[in-house]
This record gives sequence, structure tokens and C-alpha cells, in this order.
Amino acid sequence: MTDKRRLKTAVDKVSEIIDSKPEIGLIFGSGLGSLADEFEGLKRKSFKDIPDFPESTVEGHKGEYVFGKLNGVDVLALSGRIHYYEGHTMGEVCFPMEVMAECGIKKLIVSNAGGGVNENFTPGDIVIIDDHINFMGDNPLIGAADFIDMTDAYSRDLRDIAAAVGADLDIDLKRGVYMANSGPSYETPAEINMARVIGADIVGMSTVPEVIMANKYGIQVLGLSMITNMAAGITGEALSHQEVIETTTMAQEKFKDLVRETVGKI
Ligand code: HPA
Repeated sequence: MTDKRRLKTAVDKVSEIIDSKPEIGLIFGSGLGSLADEFEGLKRKSFKDIPDFPESTVEGHKGEYVFGKLNGVDVLALSGRIHYYEGHTMGEVCFPMEVMAECGIKKLIVSNAGGGVNENFTPGDIVIIDDHINFMGDNPLIGAADFIDMTDAYSRDLRDIAAAVGADLDIDLKRGVYMANSGPSYETPAEINMARVIGADIVGMSTVPEVIMANKYGIQVLGLSMITNMAAGITGEALSHQEVIETTTMAQEKFKDLVRETVGKI
């Protein structure tokens, strides 16, 4: 269970950078945080300046809240998330998301880097997440006995809007199911075959905990995956975190265009 006092302390700290009540929250995945650099009136709050905040240690994850106007709209963004594979509990992983929820956001755009399981995908593709499979073996609501409906975990309305924005921008957006594994090892080829059989199009190590928590708060979610590599066993090449960072760097302009325009329409 979340410690309410700790949550309130964090909300108070993050509120120092918020001028108005932002309705839209953004969570940036690996290497996708540079969109924050173009926020108008940008203000930052480092995780380090928030008492008892969980620490993120991964390369490409800065660890800060950023507030500002994107495409004329107030947004509160999380640059650098906390991962389960870093050894944090699900509660810690979702803490930054809960802070955003308590700051009043109503809609969340969450992004991640993922491996392509669907062989129609290519590295650099952006995928609208239609649904997920929680294969992490854990759930952030354990202990709370919260029976949250997950039928529309990824808002149909927001998915439709993002798809329309993609078409306007001439971005060949894909659609798919995201399967979250705990990591930090990448999957084996056998695990990827299983993932495909059970209906996954993308594999990754994040997003699902925050999306479950966002649904608990009644927040509408749009999930976007950047395919950074084909999943294990598909090309015969070894996987590396370096490749993940390189692909996000290469394809991030397209991602930024999509998020910027979508924020203006939701
Ligand atoms: N598997 C899991 N997580 C990932 C991958 C992958 O292939 N690529 C980027 N994140």
C-alpha cells in the first residue's frame, strides 16, 4: 500500500513546478525523453530533490518531472521511469505514476522501447498498444484487493485519435498487444515463440504496472511502443541495450511529431 504521507510530500514537491492543473501526463520510455526539451516555459524537478523518491539507474533515463506547454497544452511529464528489474517493488515502480495521478492528470500517454514479436514490424516502427499481457508475475494492486476492470485499459478513444494523427502525419503506425516480462535479461527465442502464440506483438519490461495503476485512478491511457529491435531469435542477431538506444535516437523525431500532435487533439 502506498504510504499516503510520502505520496503527499512528493505531490507537494512536484506541485512546485506546476502553474496550472495539467490534465495530460506523459511517461517517456528509454531514449524518448528529449521531447521535454521543447516544452514552453519548461520547469524541472529532479527525482533527487523529492524526499524518499525511488532511484532510477538505467542509461537513457534521466529521472525528473517536467512541466510545460507542448503544442499549447499544459503537460506534466516523467522522464525516466523506475523499472521492476532494478529491484524495486511494484509499488515503487508505480509511485511516480501515482504522484502524477494525485497531481490531477486525467489522460496519460505512456511510451516504451520494445522488441518486435510480430514479424511485420521493423525496428523504428511505432506501435499503438491495443492491449497488454502482464507476464511480470506481479501486480501493483496486490495487497489492495482492487478488482480493476481492464477491458478498456488502453482507451479506445485515445487509440482512435492517435491513429488518425498518425495518418495525417503520414506515419505508418502499427497496432499490437504489448507483453511485459520482468527482465532484465532479454527473452529467449523459445519465450518469443510462446509470446507470439499467446497473442503478443511486442515485448518489453515496463509500462504494464503504470497502466494498471493509471486504470485504478480512472485515467485514460494511450500506450505507444517504439520497436527498437526484432525480438530474440527472429534475425539471428544478438540483442543489446546499445541497439535499443541507437534505434530510439534514430526514430525519435517521428515519435515526437506523433506525441506533439496527439497532445493537441486529446
Ligand atoms: N525485449 C524486452 N524488452 C525490450 C526489448 C526486447 O526485445 N527491446 C527493448 N526493450
